[in-house]
Amino acid sequence: MSPIPIILDCDPGHDDAMAMILAAYSPEIDLRGIVTVSGNGVIEKVTLNALRICALAKINVPVAQGAGQSLMGSGDAATYIHGESALDGADLPHPTFELSPESGVELIARLVSESDVPITLVATGPLTNIALFLKLYPDLISNVKEIVFMGGSAGRGNRSAYAEFNIWMDPDATDVVLKSGLPMTMCGLDVTHEALVTSEIFDRLHAMETPLSQTIIGLMKFFASTYNDVYEMPDPPLHDPVAIAVLIDREVVRSKHVNVEVELHGTFTRGATVVDIHNMDGRPANVTVALGLDAPKFWDLMLNAVELAGKA
Ligand code: RIB
Ligand code: CA
Repeated sequence: MSPIPIILDCDPGHDDAMAMILAAYSPEIDLRGIVTVSGNGVIEKVTLNALRICALAKINVPVAQGAGQSLMGSGDAATYIHGESALDGADLPHPTFELSPESGVELIARLVSESDVPITLVATGPLTNIALFLKLYPDLISNVKEIVFMGGSAGRGNRSAYAEFNIWMDPDATDVVLKSGLPMTMCGLDVTHEALVTSEIFDRLHAMETPLSQTIIGLMKFFASTYNDVYEMPDPPLHDPVAIAVLIDREVVRSKHVNVEVELHGTFTRGATVVDIHNMDGRPANVTVALGLDAPKFWDLMLNAVELAGKA
């Protein structure tokens, strides 16, 4: 089967960085470009981090800076998890290539329009750039195969009681995406909280004995420390690579096609994804929601990519 062409929209971010590596070093994926969005850090920091991860893992695709704020101009950085640099925990190399002169949305539009096959958009940060692309380039939507996003939850949230961070940062953009009519796959906290960076994963990284694996260990140790401080989770969930893994092997998750809406007006629940698992409200199903993870299969995919990248 031909590799799946994707554009990765992200806010590196520790788990975004791992999603970049999984996308770049999986033969099933054809990573065409990377676009950044503010979320785990302000746009300048997450963009610098994207370039630094490209240098670290020898990823050579165009990188463009995307939206620095939500559609409504709000939201703050998740420094409480990812640190002041938005990617604390290791010394990262300086960028080895320049940022694309295009804006994030312009790069998405160019790559989609130039592709001879429909492209999959993968978002592992707030959905601002994806929403802007859908609104500004409606004629290009026919060349988008699917939107896969890490975000939301069928249960509780992690940025507010009921809103997951990426959706909380831009609920209005999420609403645009959910109403796009495109095939969508949602990898929310229900599935990503099963992708835990356990001591066994650290052992497997240690055993690789490459500079890259050592750097990743430093990043993951920082990520683990803040996650434990904030959420009392000793093993942090590596959210974002799950959105790549589902494209590599759909069997890596257990999913259900249901209706998903986003709460825009709730006093306490703005940004909550309303996942109608049992079709109680009768609205048409619009999203394939991942609800469970084959963790051993996921980690084999993730660590195989790290091993490949470490030898590049
Ligand atoms: O809620 C987890 C999500 O928020 C992940 O994408 C993480 O990188 C942060 O952006
Ligand atoms: Ca992210």
